[in-house]
Amino acid sequence: MRSLDQIIEAEEQTFLQRVPKSIALHAQASKSIPGGVASSWASSRPTPVWVSHGSGAHVWDVDGNRYIDFHAGYGANVVGHANPAVVAAVQDRVTLGTHFAQPTPDLIVVAEELAKRFGLPQWRFCNSGSEATMDAIHLMRAVTGKDLIIKIEGSYNGHHDSVLVSIFRSTSQLGPEQEPWRVPTAGVPQAIADLVRIVPYNDLVALERVLTEFKNEIAGMIFEPMMMNAGIIAPQDNYLHGVRELTAKHGVLLAFDEVKTGLVVHHGGATKLYGVTPDIVCLAKALGGGVPCGAIGGTDEVMSAITDGRYNQIGTFNGNPLTMAAARAVLTQVMTPDVYDRANELGSYILGNALETLHRYGQSAYGFQAGFKVCVVFSDKPAKNYREFLDISTGISHLHFLKQFNGGIFLPPWGKSESLTLSVAHTKADADIYIQNLVEFGEVLQSMGERASKVFAAGSYN
Ligand SMILES: Cc1ncc(COP(=O)(O)O)c(C=O)c1O
Repeated sequence: MRSLDQIIEAEEQTFLQRVPKSIALHAQASKSIPGGVASSWASSRPTPVWVSHGSGAHVWDVDGNRYIDFHAGYGANVVGHANPAVVAAVQDRVTLGTHFAQPTPDLIVVAEELAKRFGLPQWRFCNSGSEATMDAIHLMRAVTGKDLIIKIEGSYNGHHDSVLVSIFRSTSQLGPEQEPWRVPTAGVPQAIADLVRIVPYNDLVALERVLTEFKNEIAGMIFEPMMMNAGIIAPQDNYLHGVRELTAKHGVLLAFDEVKTGLVVHHGGATKLYGVTPDIVCLAKALGGGVPCGAIGGTDEVMSAITDGRYNQIGTFNGNPLTMAAARAVLTQVMTPDVYDRANELGSYILGNALETLHRYGQSAYGFQAGFKVCVVFSDKPAKNYREFLDISTGISHLHFLKQFNGGIFLPPWGKSESLTLSVAHTKADADIYIQNLVEFGEVLQSMGERASKVFAAGSYN
């Protein structure tokens, strides 16, 4: 009987044999680019895959292999690759000049459409999810004149100082459950991390405790309404309403980080899906249809701090004409409200069949689906917060990533943390290949003789 390590080793060898040109490019790139990649998150085991091009639901690597793409560039490419409407919008715009740092009319179309979808009247633009959450935190501090921020333990909200706290850590590094430490990421001073108060997801009691203890010191709470860097952890009944009520009761602003969920789980994001409206919404990823883009929406009261200059929301490339042309096409031509019914149909087909397949092979698994997002987790105990998520096996998720890759499906490389993202171009036939690969995966796990996901060590954070 082969061990998990041996099976992973064999699958990694198969993976590497498929991608010799990627391996060569990686070796060359590593001489001038740290790790040979543009972002450390592209630095995955067994080797980064270099992409040649994409079309619709597919991507091709530089070795000519074609994959069904459920990676979607970490959940950004919901319009599918080279979507004709987005291509036309960008092509039409590119010949007219790509940068002025002055407004172009598409800004208004995009802002009005977002206002309608998210129920927040005022919008500004930026270039990424990190910029959006950074602006949200600056705004909350500027509006309230207070310094402290509440954030969820283990939740990723971008790569700026205020939120690079208590993420990608093991349980022992996070401190006692009731009094969690504020653990800065390398490069972030402890003094900045100390302006953050950490609470577990799905825990209104802990939130109320912090709100009471630091009364009159907290500017706001930054919060991913569905936690999406831990597989997907969905809000428990009434949790989002409870967070809204408690923050309002204590005079604390609430910012939803909808960088991953916005325009993906519903046409109006988690905000509309759950019917809870925060003071600020942060968007990025799917909004640009593959072009770098970010946005923050807010109430009249919050955004008045920008209007009257209490907070300068700035950036050379904010509202760039190409970005806004792409976002206009995304909102008005592609991600229209009608496409979400089809996404829910395909997504629930994938999830239902995936769970049925894994259970048939005696494996524990649970999952979650909303709009274009699907998540399958190899455990029988749904995690309700980050610490519970850390107990889930990393090895099994990595094997799943490898099995799917070798079977023609591209998933995000950090298997345990990530989820599948569908696009408007995916079909049931694509879903069936994913499920067929799961049959082979189930057979392998079953051949290990026990409920594999219980057998192998948990504890790593990816
Ligand atoms: C929830 C969430 N917020 C913020 C960010 C940061 O976005 P970006 O990578 O565009 O800076 C991410 C990125 O994955 C994210 O998942």
